[in-house]
Amino acid sequence: MVDIKNVVIIGVGQMGAGAAQVSLMAGFNVTLVDIKDELVDKAYASIDAGMKKLEAKGAFPGKTAADFMANCKKTTDIASAMKDADLMIEAVVENMEIKKKVFKTCDDNAPAHCILASNTSTMSITEIGSVTNRQDKVIGMHFFNPVALMRCEEVIYGDKTSDESVDAGMEFAGKLPCLKGERYIARVLKDGPGFIVNRVSAPVQIYQNYIFDLAAEKGFTWEQLDNDSGGPMPTCVLADFVGIDTLIHTQNYYAKTLSPEFAPGKVVTKLFEEGKLGAKTGQGFYDWSKGRPKPDRKAGKARLMKVKYPMAIMLNEGCRVLEEGITKSWKVIDDAIAAGLNMMGPMGLAAKNWETQVDTLNELMELTGKTYFEPCNLLKSGEWLKME
Ligand code: NAI
Repeated sequence: MVDIKNVVIIGVGQMGAGAAQVSLMAGFNVTLVDIKDELVDKAYASIDAGMKKLEAKGAFPGKTAADFMANCKKTTDIASAMKDADLMIEAVVENMEIKKKVFKTCDDNAPAHCILASNTSTMSITEIGSVTNRQDKVIGMHFFNPVALMRCEEVIYGDKTSDESVDAGMEFAGKLPCLKGERYIARVLKDGPGFIVNRVSAPVQIYQNYIFDLAAEKGFTWEQLDNDSGGPMPTCVLADFVGIDTLIHTQNYYAKTLSPEFAPGKVVTKLFEEGKLGAKTGQGFYDWSKGRPKPDRKAGKARLMKVKYPMAIMLNEGCRVLEEGITKSWKVIDDAIAAGLNMMGPMGLAAKNWETQVDTLNELMELTGKTYFEPCNLLKSGEWLKME
């Protein structure tokens, strides 16, 4: 198995900088790569500041932040960065053509043993790797945001990936520290849109789009809709936080790869066209100019959003993930969701009442007219319970 010492991270925005920091903390040599000097400088400065904060908290007994940062290099030239790389982690924007271009350049310049990993959150590892001459050494390495705090990582097979490459990815991922507990590394056995965690929660977006459009049609405010679910991050606030553009791109990708019913709804499309992308632009569903909005309880409820539907939807999708062989165990689904989304997974919760959930899905299909909610065969048969 390849002995990983030198790690190159390409695209050091939010995710790449996070992956770089935990790799440095684990003692690897890390090279940061982005398209402009100011972007690599910014990432370096933010990692350095994060390390100094940890040092001040006593996180590095016998060591200093500077000891770790001494192993960090930066450049804008992929070709030179790859010359002695053992592992490359790509975290550029979620765009297939850009990712393929990066992988081609890496493949042309890396030593033969180097593993090439993508942190894509939805896209096909097989397709990204198809431009290389080392498809056996291309893996998915999906981190969750923020990398230092979220325990989950998914290590993913492309159609031509070797066991050795995934084993090396799993071993590397397991060495990366997490500031909030022990890392959970999910081995994703098959390439499929959204892998495990994002895939299982993906069709909840079909329901949300239905509800957004219904609320607009009925004249409810977003505050009233958010009061249906409550909590610090209700649905519209969360959509703004994630970014309306991110939702649109993801939904379009799922519409192409899973079902046309994932296509963005009227409300999110309008926000996107008006450039109201959420927190990042200061306006989305809400005005963010004074910080994160807090829906006023006194505004009342729309009584449209029902909490029973998302859990049933996730259970059904979890069973599809099992049917497709993306994982063989529903425990892995629940554990990955707990570690990646900080919530209880749907599978174990449904062990005793899955038949009721089948009825809930049929009811939802009737209500929305969306056939994607039809209970899949594995769920209906109850056979999924044996796949623990
Ligand atoms: P970001 O926009 O913060 O960072 C992307 C970085 O890539 C930017 O600094 C950009 O300049 C750089 N870049 C673009 N083209 C490049 C190229 N050709 N060569 C080198 N650098 C290039 O994006 P973010 O959020 O960090 O996402 C990166 C990837 O991670 C995406 O594939 C995304 O789907 C995935 N991801 C994102 C998560 C999130 O919550 N933001 C969670 C898990 C995965």
